[in-house]
Amino acid sequence: MTGPIHRTPQPPALELVRVTEAAAIAAAHWMGHGDNDEADKAAVEAMRSAMDDMPFAGTIVIGEGERDEAPMLHIGEKVGSGKGPEIDIAVDPLEGTNLVAKGHENAITVLATSEPGGLLHAPDVYMDKLVVGAPAKGKVDLDRPVKENLKIVADSLNRDVDDLTVVVLDRPRHEKLIAEIRDAGARIKLIDDGDVIGAINVVVAGTGVHCLMGIGAAPEGVLAAAALKCMGAEILGRLKFKNDAERERAKRMGVVDCDKVYRTEDLAPGVDIRFVATGVTDGEMLNGVRFFRRGARTYSMLLESRGKLRFIDTTHFEDPENPPLIRLT
Ligand code: FBP
Repeated sequence: MTGPIHRTPQPPALELVRVTEAAAIAAAHWMGHGDNDEADKAAVEAMRSAMDDMPFAGTIVIGEGERDEAPMLHIGEKVGSGKGPEIDIAVDPLEGTNLVAKGHENAITVLATSEPGGLLHAPDVYMDKLVVGAPAKGKVDLDRPVKENLKIVADSLNRDVDDLTVVVLDRPRHEKLIAEIRDAGARIKLIDDGDVIGAINVVVAGTGVHCLMGIGAAPEGVLAAAALKCMGAEILGRLKFKNDAERERAKRMGVVDCDKVYRTEDLAPGVDIRFVATGVTDGEMLNGVRFFRRGARTYSMLLESRGKLRFIDTTHFEDPENPPLIRLT
């Protein structure tokens, strides 16, 4: 172990899981209903109210948007009881609203926390991303040709490029990228939505995917960075602006260099990072919410930069006086 690192007081980690669990249960009721907005609203409301009595003085740094466009969990909003440690919080109450609306896999509720200043206040624009596991950290480069990066990832994993599977969001904007990956000989897993869990899958062995490439949302890039940092993995990201207005807005939010390539440490520089996600619909990493008589069951992951990963399987009793049937699996 290395010498002492300056730590800041943090709220109990398991309290944070209660927040994503509440949002997941609320959102999961909307699975397959074809209504993105209601699913998102349910997650936002549940997440907001779960935080009310939590023992921290939280500030939302990545949330549902700015105050005038988001009634709850807007950037700058104070959450928690106000008593306890000061923390910054990045939330995506429902990551994969389309996935829930359609009943597709891999929707999650997610948040990350840090001591104040420990998470980049990313504007709500796109970000070009490259995610790799720990063995390729520091070796890949967003400006290298796709083929070269894939060779580096393959070498780092002691396999050939045609044994790699690359996760890419299924979007028309990725036509060229997809052609380049195919040309390099790697396989591709196109995902409909959800590049936070997509990034996490990439850095965990046994998921069958090895790299994530392409353009997704910047706030999701910060959330992924929080998780990847805890696992020693790497995300590289460059903000992508649709127009000058987005560029100006980013500058107002403190982005000095709009063309900068952010590394994991720039996106999540905090010392005390925590990342929590709960499955809403089933996925490779987390099961979705199970509902049954008088209860529900949720599956979450809790990562801490202090060096812990917990998978948390919770049975929620609707009425503690009248518990549901408890199942082992
Ligand atoms: P939501 O939180 O809005 O459901 O985002 C889902 C998502 O797929 C992200 O994972 C991804 O970063 C982003 O949307 C991609 O944006 P777009 O759908 O505009 O391509």
